[in-house]
Amino acid sequence: MANYVHGFDPIEQLRLKEQAEFLAPMVYKEVDFGGCKNLLEVGSGVGAQTRILLEKFPALQITCVDSSAEQLAQARINLASFGDRVRFVEQDGCELQLGERFDAAFVCWTLEHVPSPIRLLIKLKEHLQPGARLYVTEVFNSSLYVSPGYSHLRYYVEVMSDFQRKIGGNPDVGIELGNLLTEAGFSSCTTRFDGFYLDARSGEKRKMVTSYWKELLKSAAPALLAEGVGTHLTVKKMLEDLEKLGNDENAIFFYQFVQAKTTY
Ligand SMILES: C[S@@+](CC[C@H](N)C(=O)[O-])C[C@H]1O[C@@H](n2cnc3c(N)ncnc32)[C@H](O)[C@@H]1O
Repeated sequence: MANYVHGFDPIEQLRLKEQAEFLAPMVYKEVDFGGCKNLLEVGSGVGAQTRILLEKFPALQITCVDSSAEQLAQARINLASFGDRVRFVEQDGCELQLGERFDAAFVCWTLEHVPSPIRLLIKLKEHLQPGARLYVTEVFNSSLYVSPGYSHLRYYVEVMSDFQRKIGGNPDVGIELGNLLTEAGFSSCTTRFDGFYLDARSGEKRKMVTSYWKELLKSAAPALLAEGVGTHLTVKKMLEDLEKLGNDENAIFFYQFVQAKTTY
């Protein structure tokens, strides 16, 4: 059974880069690593967030940790131009062992795939200096609201979320970030919501958002089909719903992710 719902093929690796750029205005709205020097990124994937961090904060050195050799190989290629500002470590974030402490950390769209997010956060904390700044950004799939109808889209997201739970992940981990960080020993955690709210006011934005969601949801299709928890028809109908939603200027689409900020 696949244990990572999006897989590691080149199309998915490219999607991660496009996703990071598309979501950057929301994800980085309040991220501030000014004054920090040495950042630890866990679940860095193909380096899509790393690139944005390196560009936004020129004083940062970044250590990228990912459990997938394939993702790290692609990250090395994608970030080659940054030279020794970035290094790569293949490790499970839940068993992190780096022998040094960092003054900044960043985790994005990763805890949702980890069977024990609390363990990852505790290990991460062991690698932070006092006063270190940490941002964690995560999905909250139960926040999805669409109207009117769009039952195929709703059904697909339910199937995908159930499958993610079955393989040890949590598609609602975002809403638990406050509790998880508190339990991991971070005392002053703040959380904020951001995401999508399409309605009659959305104009051109509607098409951009529904196109992004098509690619995001399609990326889980191979795993769902391979495990027999979805069919080609399920995927086709979901895409048709998103197409309709993109064309209906009064349709409502609402989804929120959660970003937590804390210092150690
Ligand atoms: C959806 S991708 C996000 C990548 C990157 N943060 C981004 O936003 O583009 C999740 C990444 O987490 C990695 N991952 C999953 N479980 C992990 C674990 N236990 N330790 C380290 N990395 C993990 C996967 O290999 C994958 O590259």
